[in-house]
Amino acid sequence: MPNLNLYRIEKDYIRENLNKYTRKAFKLLPKCKNPHILDIGCGTGVPTIELATISDGHVIGIDIDVTSLDLLQRKIKETGLNNRVGVIKNSILTMDFPEESFDIIWAEGSIYVIGFENSIKKWRRFLKPNGFLVIHDENKDKTKKLGLITKYGYTLIAQFEISKNLWWREYFTPLEQLIKEFRNKYPNDSELINELNKDQIEIDKCKSNSTVISSFFVIMQKV
Ligand SMILES: C[S@@+](CC[C@H](N)C(=O)[O-])C[C@H]1O[C@@H](n2cnc3c(N)ncnc32)[C@H](O)[C@@H]1O
Repeated sequence: MPNLNLYRIEKDYIRENLNKYTRKAFKLLPKCKNPHILDIGCGTGVPTIELATISDGHVIGIDIDVTSLDLLQRKIKETGLNNRVGVIKNSILTMDFPEESFDIIWAEGSIYVIGFENSIKKWRRFLKPNGFLVIHDENKDKTKKLGLITKYGYTLIAQFEISKNLWWREYFTPLEQLIKEFRNKYPNDSELINELNKDQIEIDKCKSNSTVISSFFVIMQKV
């Protein structure tokens, strides 16, 4: 297996530290039998697999990045979730589904592609009546974002924050350690080093601007 994939698998273990917040958000939803869930910008599917595990529903993960989707496909096979988790390669910007297809739409870390306002406006029609939209986004402009919820035909069910301390403790600090380990182990693998550099740049950006790294979950219901 390429070192890059090994790195991404290890990185996913660190990402799994944040699954407790995915579970917390899911528990804030009323119980729903066999929900149809769309996970937008699913990446390697850490939340996708978690959602399938904690629900008895069907989850579709959509993302544009083939390498990430390949890793997700592997996980689906390994966990035996083939009949409950599906994958679509498509852009968030062009995705289309029949109206009222999903009970729950989930988006963690992907809303930046289209913007908070656009997403809640455009994705509403894909939700069944009284369906739920759950977004995990950066904390920036949170009050303004929460103010848009009723404007676009939802009601706010709950919201909670993940502080910068939690982000550092549960994600960035172990990720920085992982980057160091892989850099020392495979200094001549240019593809890997390229990705390590990109991730390190993200961490450095967060170090220099602490507001970027706190985030919030918001759970809203279509009315
Ligand atoms: C920060 S990752 C989040 C992944 C996953 N939701 C998670 O929380 O672990 C953002 C994801 O958005 C995806 N993405 C970026 N632009 C996209 C686009 N135009 N269409 C679909 N996915 C996109 C990236 O490939 C990446 O997997």
